[in-house]
Amino acid sequence: MLGLLTTGDRGLVNYHSRRMPDALPPHPVLGEYYGDASQRERFVRNIFDETAEWYDDIIGMLSFGSGNRYRKMALERAGLAPGMRLLDLATGTGVVARSAAGITNDIIASDASIGMLLAGRSKHHLPLVQNAGERLPFRDDSFDFLTIGFALRHFADLRGLFAELFRVLRPNGRVLILEITPPRSRAGYAVLRFHLGTVVPLLARLRSRSAEAEKLMHYYWDTIRSCVPPETILDALRGAGFGDAKRHVELGTFSEYTAVKLGAGACD
Ligand SMILES: C[S@@+](CC[C@H](N)C(=O)[O-])C[C@H]1O[C@@H](n2cnc3c(N)ncnc32)[C@H](O)[C@@H]1O
Repeated sequence: MLGLLTTGDRGLVNYHSRRMPDALPPHPVLGEYYGDASQRERFVRNIFDETAEWYDDIIGMLSFGSGNRYRKMALERAGLAPGMRLLDLATGTGVVARSAAGITNDIIASDASIGMLLAGRSKHHLPLVQNAGERLPFRDDSFDFLTIGFALRHFADLRGLFAELFRVLRPNGRVLILEITPPRSRAGYAVLRFHLGTVVPLLARLRSRSAEAEKLMHYYWDTIRSCVPPETILDALRGAGFGDAKRHVELGTFSEYTAVKLGAGACD
């Protein structure tokens, strides 16, 4: 029993295509990994499917084991509270969802990669939904809190994604997006590039003996270095209708974007 929800479960609806705003990719096409934008979604799903069994190990190395504690602190900073209904998008093996489970117990975890969801099954028993974040099978106003941990760069279209987040959030609901942003200082940038662009891919290869795991970590850094700037992300959140969109930064590189679906009568 995998615990995967289907569109027949309570609270889920079939997705109906609707008019989306112009696409905003988080980074240009990365031609060394996939040919053109139309192949991107499949490339991303496949690489996470193929590396899922090593993901937690690699992320542990990358963050020196501090990842879970950091995610919980970020959730508390953003205002997650007991009783809130949370959707963790791009949950992967459920690292953010597992941290959130120490705060609220009403959580759904969703991801496009079946491999990542299955790899998480031995670590948690939260309800899972396999779905692309840009096409969510949930009714309007379903959640109090949405999270996306270190995955924004992997979505094809930030505007379409943010429109979906806005739709499924309840009035006064919040979104928290965790991302790595290259430091502004040249020294900080060089250190991060060496760590993420050289050390982590090599360690991933040694640890997993998998060329795909090494490629994932090269891809990880390439998406970070070529990602649109924080101002563009904040503008896209505002453009989707969110209020109070802001960014908190830890250690010069961990970005925490938060925004609120302001309730009727409130103003930004
Ligand atoms: C780097 S992992 C992040 C996992 C976890 N959130 C964390 O904090 O460690 C990125 C995840 O994003 C998922 N993903 C990529 N594109 C997606 C999309 N369009 N819709 C939903 N999930 C997506 C991948 O399958 C992968 O599990």
